[in-house]
Amino acid sequence: MDAHKQLTIGLFGFGVVGEGLYKVLQQTPSLKATIKKVCIRDPKKKRNAPAELFTTDKNILLNDPGINVIVEVIDDANAAFEIVSTALKNGKDVVSASKKMIAEHLPALLKLQQETGQSFLYESAACASIPVIRNLEEYYDNDLLHSIKAIVNGSTNFILTKMFEEKLSFRDALLLAQQLGFAESNPKLDVEGYDAVNKWTFLLTHAYGIIETPENILFTGIQHINAGDAAVAREKNYDIKLVAQAKKLNNGKVAAFVLPQFVRHDDHLAFVKNEYNGVVIESGFADKQFFYGKGAGSFPTASAVLSDIAALRYQYKYEYKKLYHHKPHELSNDFYLRVYISFNDLKFISREHFEWIEEWHAGEQRKYLVGVISFEQLKTNDWWRKHNISLILLPDPVIENIEIRKLKKKSLELAGLI
Ligand code: HSE
Repeated sequence: MDAHKQLTIGLFGFGVVGEGLYKVLQQTPSLKATIKKVCIRDPKKKRNAPAELFTTDKNILLNDPGINVIVEVIDDANAAFEIVSTALKNGKDVVSASKKMIAEHLPALLKLQQETGQSFLYESAACASIPVIRNLEEYYDNDLLHSIKAIVNGSTNFILTKMFEEKLSFRDALLLAQQLGFAESNPKLDVEGYDAVNKWTFLLTHAYGIIETPENILFTGIQHINAGDAAVAREKNYDIKLVAQAKKLNNGKVAAFVLPQFVRHDDHLAFVKNEYNGVVIESGFADKQFFYGKGAGSFPTASAVLSDIAALRYQYKYEYKKLYHHKPHELSNDFYLRVYISFNDLKFISREHFEWIEEWHAGEQRKYLVGVISFEQLKTNDWWRKHNISLILLPDPVIENIEIRKLKKKSLELAGLI
């Protein structure tokens, strides 16, 4: 470690996170890290920093031999990939917060890290202030990590909290999340689950060595959740959260998805409100561990960027241990999920896709059922994404292949059908 190494930063982006980092660095002079230049898109925008700090020419930063660290916090994924690739090839270490870019370009980014030997750190890209990537990298041995479930998107958690606890409308809650700097510039990315699945994509790499594209991980957001679902949740003593989950199955593969889920009040994730994120890890010997912290916002995100910058002082790199030093895991489609589905019209529900249905409820407007469906069916069919249908997983939703026959028999017996 070189405690005296001067870190000279070229910063891309001066939005919520970039400006946050600028302020945080001013308050941490002991770090010996200074921003030499900031590259921005719009030169006309008023900035709270000296004008001479800014440029719109990316090459001024990328080709400056005096800059040894590029920090990239822009929200255009393609431009971000371009910047990161060039910076690594030019011998600079890189810190990034661009989750979409990392999720979409993971194989190329892995290759670039191997080829250049430079550090590429992105702790702030998932769960902002919670050091989840470094923990998954350094602490957990592959074989012992039984499962992870997490709230990884602050905006949707904020919206759900405001809607169900403070009775705000969806629109007002979203507006507030935007005003507070939690939401993406295109909030559809938050609301429809894209941001969460992007983060889950590379968290799966650090947890299990899985390399997948976001499109191949089943996900949806909170766009279809309605007041009727909230009433059912209250009745059953649950909260509704957007949960990213991964579980090691008996077949040695991993079940992974990002879907809304009913969460029991005594579940750690029920404690996670507003823009906070939370991660519950179950491992062989430690049993359950819970990580909790702010998952969005200027300073919480900047704090993780700052921690990555500090780690460059001792040439910290992700080793991707689960990918390179262990046998990497694969995703499985071979399991079942216990789901709640609410709908207006039964004709849009593919009942034949269910293994069994254990609860029916027909209200005047809205109806719902609770049943067990194969993951494969959900993944390959999209009827549940249309016609105002809302799908929410039950707590502990994963049913393994080997359990299904026994459970089916029991459920049919209970229903008096056999
Ligand atoms: N829009 C993101 C969220 C920002 O709400 O979680 C932090 O990644």
